[in-house]
Order: sequence, then C-alpha cells, then structure tokens
Amino acid sequence: MKKAIVSAVVGLAVMAGGAMAADGEGIFKSKGCGACHKPSAKGVGPSLKDIAATYKGKEGDLIKFLRGEAPPKMDTGKFNIMKGQLAKTKALSDAELKALVDFMLSH
Ligand code: HEC
Repeated sequence: MKKAIVSAVVGLAVMAGGAMAADGEGIFKSKGCGACHKPSAKGVGPSLKDIAATYKGKEGDLIKFLRGEAPPKMDTGKFNIMKGQLAKTKALSDAELKALVDFMLSH
C-alpha cells in the first residue's frame, strides 16, 4: 500500500516536470510555424536550415526578432507576412522562447 502511494507521487512529479520543461519543437508545431517554414526547403518563408545559418551564434538577435524588438535580416520584402506571427512569439515566456529558438537553431 505504502509503495503504491510512493510510486503515484513520483509519477505525478515526473508529469509535472515534463509539463514545465518547454518543448521547442512542440511550440513550433502548435503555433503553426511549420506551415510556412520547412526544415530544409524554402516555403512561404525561409527554411529552418537557412534561419539557423543566418542566426548561427546570434541567438540573442533571434530572440529579439521574435520579441518584435529587432528588424528582419532575411527576406525583408516579405516581412509583412511574418509580422503578424510575432504576436504569437511575443506571448511566449522567456523559457518557451529560448526552447523555440534552440529548436530552430538545431537545424
Ligand atoms: C504565414 C506564413 C508564416 C508563418 C505561419 C510563420 N512565418 Fe516566419 N516568416 C514568414 C516569411 C514570409 C518570412 C520572411 C520575411 C522575414 O524575413 O521576416 C519569415 C521569416 C521568419 C524568420 C526570419 C526573420 C528574419 O530575420 O528575416 C524567423 C526567425 C521566423 N520567420 C520564425 C517564425 C516562427 C517562430 C513562426 C511561428 C510562431 C513563424 N515564423 C510563422 C512566414 C511565416
């Protein structure tokens, strides 16, 4: 009986920990970013590979762009299409935004 209670408590703690750790790929998918950004082929927007190449070593700049605090560096003529998406990334917590950026830069 005691053992069952202990394992139930441990199980809950593991679930809570999983929910707290931000999942960059999950955020990318759930926010619909993948509709315009493919892993390596250009779609409506630049590919994740191109984004990673542009922002390599400049994670801070990418965070600023997604916070709406820095201008686009890539396809500036198409920024109008991307601009509306920033409402979604501006609403993310610091940890979520960091996880999202890590996911994009991993390409
Ligand atoms: C409706 C299509 C569309 C969706 C959805 C979309 N984007 Fe974009 N994105 C674009 C286009 C077009 C560009 C090219 C314009 C530009 O460079 O800003 C772009 C550019 C970018 C860039 C490069 C910025 C730069 O420096 O030029 C990043 C990073 C980016 N998007 C991230 C995201 C993320 C994260 C999401 C999901 C929250 C997302 N996008 C959703 C169309 C989209």
